Amino acid sequence: MGKLIDPYGREIDYLRVSVIDKCNLKCFYCVPDDVGSCSPNVSEVMSLEEIINISKAAAALGIKKVRLTGGEPLVRKDIVEMVSKISQIEGIDDISLTTNGVLLNKLAPALVKAGLTRVNISLDSLNPENFKKITRGGALKKTQEGIQAALKAGLTPVKINVVAMKGINDGEIEEFVKLTVENDLHVRFIEYMPISKSHQKQWGECFIPLSEIQGLCEKIGPLEKQFSFHGNGPADYYRIQGAKGLVGFISPVSRHFCGQCNRLRITSDGKIKPCLFSMDEIDLIEAGGDQEKIKQLFLQSLKFRPDPHQVDKNPDSRFNCSKREMQQIGG
Ligand code: GTP
Ligand code: 5AD
Repeated sequence: MGKLIDPYGREIDYLRVSVIDKCNLKCFYCVPDDVGSCSPNVSEVMSLEEIINISKAAAALGIKKVRLTGGEPLVRKDIVEMVSKISQIEGIDDISLTTNGVLLNKLAPALVKAGLTRVNISLDSLNPENFKKITRGGALKKTQEGIQAALKAGLTPVKINVVAMKGINDGEIEEFVKLTVENDLHVRFIEYMPISKSHQKQWGECFIPLSEIQGLCEKIGPLEKQFSFHGNGPADYYRIQGAKGLVGFISPVSRHFCGQCNRLRITSDGKIKPCLFSMDEIDLIEAGGDQEKIKQLFLQSLKFRPDPHQVDKNPDSRFNCSKREMQQIGG
C-alpha cells in the first residue's frame, strides 16, 4: 500500500492525535465566551486500543511523527501507557505532546521513560493574575513547574507556545523574549486563528499580525534568522544575539504555510480531519480496528485536502468555518 501523498504532491509523515476533548484550563481563545462550557458537545473519546490501532495503520503508511494533543492530553489516565505503546510502533521515531503543562511536574519522568521525545507547552502570560484571567482560573506556578520538570527530564527542545493577543498579552511580549536570553527555550509567538464562528467578535478585537509581534520582539535586540532550526512544523526561528534559546513565529493568518503542510489530524472521537480548517471528517471507528480498512480510509481522506493554490487566492475563506472548537481539534 502506498504512502500518504495528497493530490497536490504534499507528503504526510506527521499525525496529530487529539486524545481527549476535556481540558483542565478554559483559555478564552480556545473556548470562546459564547461556547462557555469546558466541553462543548463532548463526544465519545477513543479508547487506548483504538488510538494504537490507528497509529499502527498510520505508521504503515509512512507516518513517522505522532503528536498527542487534547483538550489536555495529560488529563487522560492512560497517557503514559499510550506514549509507551506508540513509541514501540515500528516507523514512529518522534512522539511528542502539546500540553498546558499543569500536570507535567508529576508526569515528566514517567513520560520520558515511556519514550516521549518532546513537549510543547502553552503559556500565554508570565503574570499570575493575567494567566488566571486568560485560562479562566489557572495557576501560573503549575505551568512554570511543568516547564522546569520538562527541562530537568531532558525533553528538549522545550517549546513554549504564546498566542499573541492585543490588549491581553501584547504588553508581555518583550518579557517572553527575555526568557530566551537566559534559558534554552524556544518561545514561539502564534497568530490568533479564528477557527469557528464563535471567535469572530473577539478575534476582531484581539488579533495581532506577525509584523507587529516581530516589531515588539525587536525592542529587545536584533533577531538573527536561524536556518538550521527548521523543525517539523510551521515556525520560523530567530535568536537574539548571544541568547541561549530561540524566538519563533507561527503566522497561519498573515503568511499561511499550507503549501508545506505535512500533517493529518485525528479528533478525539476518531475522525480524520484532513486540514485544521476543514469541515470534512472521515470516521475511523467504523473500521472496527481492521488495519486494512483504516489504511484505506487514510488514503481516501487525502482527496479532501485543500488545494494550497486556492488558499493563496483567498486565505480568509479558511476561517470561521470549523464545526469544532480548538479544544476539540488540538491545534
Ligand atoms: P512541532 O513543530 O512538531 O514542534 O509542532 P507544532 O509547532 O506544529 O505543534 P503545536 O501543537 O505546538 O502547534 C503550534 C501552533 O501551530 C498552534 O497554534 C497550532 O494550532 C498551529 N498549527 C499546527 N499545525 C498547524 C497547521 O497545520 N495549520 C495551521 N494553520 N496551524 C497549525
Ligand atoms: N489560534 C492560535 N493558536 C491556538 N491554540 C489554541 N487555539 C488557538 C487559536 N485560536 C494553540 C494553543 C496550543 C496549541 C495546540 O494551539 O495555545 O499551544
